[in-house]
Amino acid sequence: MSTVHDVRTLTDPADRRAASDVFHGTLHRGPVSDEVWEAHGQAADEHWLGVYTADGEIVGSANSFPTRLTVPGGAGVAAAAVSGVGVRADSTRAGRLTALMRAQLSAVRDRGDTAAVLRASEAAIYGRYGYGVASRGDHVTVTARPGWRPDAPAAGTVRMLDRAEAAKVLPDLQDRLAAGRPGGMTRTARWWRRAIDPAGPAAGEYKAIAVHTGPDGDDGFAVWGVTEGDLPGGRDEIRIQQLWAGSPAATAGLWRFLTGIDLAAAVSAWSRPLDEDLDLMLTDLRAHRVTGRSDDLWLRIVDVAGALGARAWGAGDPVVLRLHDPLFDDAGTWRIGPDGVAPAGDTLPDLECGLESLGPAFLGDRTPSALARGGRWTEHTLGAAARADAVFAVPGPAPWCGTFF
Ligand SMILES: CC(C)(COP(=O)(O)OP(=O)(O)OC[C@H]1O[C@@H](n2cnc3c(N)ncnc32)[C@H](O)[C@@H]1OP(=O)(O)O)[C@@H](O)C(=O)NCCC(=O)NCCS
Repeated sequence: MSTVHDVRTLTDPADRRAASDVFHGTLHRGPVSDEVWEAHGQAADEHWLGVYTADGEIVGSANSFPTRLTVPGGAGVAAAAVSGVGVRADSTRAGRLTALMRAQLSAVRDRGDTAAVLRASEAAIYGRYGYGVASRGDHVTVTARPGWRPDAPAAGTVRMLDRAEAAKVLPDLQDRLAAGRPGGMTRTARWWRRAIDPAGPAAGEYKAIAVHTGPDGDDGFAVWGVTEGDLPGGRDEIRIQQLWAGSPAATAGLWRFLTGIDLAAAVSAWSRPLDEDLDLMLTDLRAHRVTGRSDDLWLRIVDVAGALGARAWGAGDPVVLRLHDPLFDDAGTWRIGPDGVAPAGDTLPDLECGLESLGPAFLGDRTPSALARGGRWTEHTLGAAARADAVFAVPGPAPWCGTFF
């Protein structure tokens, strides 16, 4: 028997604060201070939900902020960036997250957004709601002062900014760079305040910021902290928190700068784009080590026609793809080809998958053939997955979100 849970929309800042405290508790963290809550806790353009017990106590939360997500071909679609998801430990496994997700995704659809996106704490949670991994990132470590090949791209200069200057320069720059890569998303003022505000939650941390300027102006930036080494002077590890680059020369310029900083033994980063290809630029390619790979952005399409219509498509013969929505109504059957997308009605499909398995192909992280080999797509017509590979292939950077939220 399924229980009906009391899910409420939260607009009162006091209710949102209670939700925030529950959420932080689910991450094993204490509540934020009054000061931090006042300055950085929530914003008017966000959508907050809480789930309550019969006694009126809040035990779970989910919220989202508006963003524009770049899709293959360069268009941006309206999306809800989901965050703050948690259910108090004494109230889990009773369907409360499911109630929150259903309410949240219904509201996202009613607002006219094309998709919802999130970063997942655990990979087993969100597939059941139609989310799939749409981009992945490599964890990398580069030894300090590696040799750079003479033919490594180089065009530009690097300058360091203090946090106040960075707050003026970085948001527009990141918006521009994120528009050039599928999976890139715009960030809100609150996101930036929390990340770099001199008086923000990260105020006491060492945090340094640099911008790369190429022939056409600013084209990349990096924000980093350090993991302190045991020995004074020379064993710190620089840890990149953000690095966006709009060209191979900006990528090389920023990494060259970071790996050349004194008193550091290595530079590491969590989740770099799969097409960064830094090893190709080094004289000793083993100075660059990929130490792991993980899921980056999770995508849940809510408006199938809008999402498929916004994306560019490659050459090749059209395919008919039947989609299933694990939470809501049927997601339809679609003819997809170089000329675009149209509803295919009752046509027998060449291929079939759930929305959670469309996400990985939608931004270009996985091919339909790979998804069919993995059992995630069903191929009804022999050779249809290979045809879909050509249709889904669009030239451009590998998908990567690069924003943690
Ligand atoms: C993840 C979390 C929100 C789930 O809440 P919940 O109310 O227990 O979820 P539900 O009861 O609605 O579970 C729905 C289904 O998902 C499964 N599920 C939920 N959390 C799961 C997890 N962490 N791992 C595996 N399965 C999970 C449940 O078993 C249930 O499966 P069923 O439908 O087959 O019975 C909660 O465990 C939590 O707060 N965790 C810590 C904070 C966190 O990780 N938040 C997510 C941030 S991205």
